[in-house]
Amino acid sequence: MRFSDQFEQRFSEMLNHYPTKRSVLVPTLLYAQDEVGHLSDEVIAEIAGRLELTDLDVRNVISYYSMLRTKPAGKYNVQVCTNIACMLRGGYDILGHCKEKLGIGHKEVTPDGLFSLEEVECIGACCWAPAMQVNYDFHDNLTTVKVDEIIETYRKGQGKDVK
Ligand code: FES
Repeated sequence: MRFSDQFEQRFSEMLNHYPTKRSVLVPTLLYAQDEVGHLSDEVIAEIAGRLELTDLDVRNVISYYSMLRTKPAGKYNVQVCTNIACMLRGGYDILGHCKEKLGIGHKEVTPDGLFSLEEVECIGACCWAPAMQVNYDFHDNLTTVKVDEIIETYRKGQGKDVK
């Protein structure tokens, strides 16, 4: 399969920075996921071949990391943190509100493919809890009103669309 030139450049550089081929697996999976949208069977086989691993080796790593996915996400992947700082400051209310507003649950995608939703562990924005991330865009100090505004911004196509 063919990735972009940018992917190939990053992949080649990483191979020089790590002691073994296997060490570049996680960043390679992340770059591939960003490019393809999810880690399909074809992507897994390609990366396994390049790194001299079995498909099962790669799938075992994918299953460990919640940010890696084998099924397509929505165009905008909403990840709501419910870890301790966010939980204490209303993270579950934010998650519940997102579920209600989008009409989907954890790891589900809206019928139009625009949004997907995930409950995630700490995203490193504890000081500004509760927080969520849409693709690679952080949103913090959330309230349900703020969540509504954020989701509408994406619905109108005015948010970042990089996965
Ligand atoms: S606990 Fe939610 S960002 Fe850290």
